[in-house]
Amino acid sequence: MRLVYQQMLAFFAVIASVLLLLGLSFSSMTKDMVYQNTWTSLEKYANSLVEQSVRISAGDPKRVSFDSESLLNSEVLLRNQSMHFTIYNRDNTAVFPDNVYISKIKASDWKKLNRGEIVQRVTDRQTKTASGKIEPAMTDVLKPYFYTDKQNKRHLVAVVKVGAYISNINSNIAKINSNLTKALAVASIVALLLAYFISRYLTLRINRLRRATNQVARGDYDVQLPSQNHDEIDDLVNDFNNMAFSLQASRKEIERQEERRRAFMADAAHEMRTPLTTINGLLEGLAYDAIPEDSKAQSIELMRNETKRLIRLVNENLDYEKIRNNQIALNKREFNAMTPLRTLVEQLQQRAEAKHDTLTVNGLDEVPVYADYDRFVQIMFNITANAIQFTDNGQITILAQRGNHGSVFKVSDTGIGMTDEQLANIWERYYKADPSRTSTKYGESGLGLAIVHQLVLLHQGRIDVMSKKGEGQLLRLFYQTRKIVKQ
Ligand SMILES: Nc1ncnc2c1ncn2[C@@H]1O[C@H](COP(=O)(O)OP(=O)(O)OP(=O)(O)O)[C@@H](O)[C@H]1O
Ligand SMILES: [Mg+2]
Repeated sequence: MRLVYQQMLAFFAVIASVLLLLGLSFSSMTKDMVYQNTWTSLEKYANSLVEQSVRISAGDPKRVSFDSESLLNSEVLLRNQSMHFTIYNRDNTAVFPDNVYISKIKASDWKKLNRGEIVQRVTDRQTKTASGKIEPAMTDVLKPYFYTDKQNKRHLVAVVKVGAYISNINSNIAKINSNLTKALAVASIVALLLAYFISRYLTLRINRLRRATNQVARGDYDVQLPSQNHDEIDDLVNDFNNMAFSLQASRKEIERQEERRRAFMADAAHEMRTPLTTINGLLEGLAYDAIPEDSKAQSIELMRNETKRLIRLVNENLDYEKIRNNQIALNKREFNAMTPLRTLVEQLQQRAEAKHDTLTVNGLDEVPVYADYDRFVQIMFNITANAIQFTDNGQITILAQRGNHGSVFKVSDTGIGMTDEQLANIWERYYKADPSRTSTKYGESGLGLAIVHQLVLLHQGRIDVMSKKGEGQLLRLFYQTRKIVKQ
């Protein structure tokens, strides 16, 4: 069954049950009320009858007489209203109307009357009287009357039975019920329409989501659905939008990575071909004894350098992959960062001098960090090597500071700098701001900063960079100083 009909059915079932329950209880309540009202008015008639026509002898309470003229008048009056009455004396004998066939009151009812209770009876079916007359179904009230003598003793003097035909009452009830049925029918139609519109609204929204899902399944991720943030379907729409957005983003990322990988493969092939051709040429020279004896040592040295370059290229790629896939374990500890920084400056001093740069490190004696020692050196080495690589006749400064929540390292240079567009890409693998640059003696695979970035993330640190084309660059690194124990 289609969802719209399922929902309609569910809505309608609930509404119809509520209406039915209300209808039934209302109808039984009206029936009770109508009977109660009838009994109350019958009781009032009985009272006025007794007041008008019963005479009790003051001397002897057992002597009761009835004013027959007033009784006859009352009878005519009541008959016009489809009611009739009977009066019984204390011996359970009918004294009015004057009819020998009137049966006595049932013993069980007589007992109740003697106790002073009012008896309300309903005879649902037609009855045949002793005289053979068919009496229609009716309801009546039996009310006892007492006389209290001087000794405060009560004496039953008369019982008045006032009856009305049920058919009259029932026609009233039937009228109310027919109105109620009409109201229920109208309410049911309104409920059905309401159920249809609500269900249709829901299914329309679901169908829209379905169409969008199919679109995504066909590979078109450029889809965003409107959401009012009202209900669970809107939540689903939000989740769907997020999913489509991430799929779109990851596809773009994959395409970008693929582009970089292709560029790198081309670069790597190009870079590998030069050393491999050199090595191959030298090996052939050695094989055919074409290299003079005194140049052999120099040729072997050349081959070693070229092989080292190849190994470095391969190693850096492997390292990046391992960091990216969380396959390296960090051996974190607290240490004074100034010790490795001073050693680093000493090691790179020669490179800096070769490019006529001055390289200095500034900071307090003690700048603590909580990090993997070797990886910290690797990060700082890469950044400083870059600064030297892209600066000629300039100044490179490493500044170590203690901050509020950790330590900060700033590496600034006065080199070529970068444009904003180049800056946005420097954490990408294989990115080189100037792709035309071929290999220098320090290697240029575009992997250095990508590795640095991944390592800093792995340390829960932060790295940012400010650069201006032609003016130089400032790179800031934030490190935590102490192990953070998560609660
Ligand atoms: N201090 C700097 N000044 C100017 N440009 C820089 C600086 N540092 C990095 N860059 C730019 O960012 C690019 C990426 O740097 P990265 O260190 O990742 O690669 P690389 O130095 O080219 O190669 P390698 O993998 O050998 O380090 C560089 O090619 C360069 O264009
Ligand atoms: Mg580099």
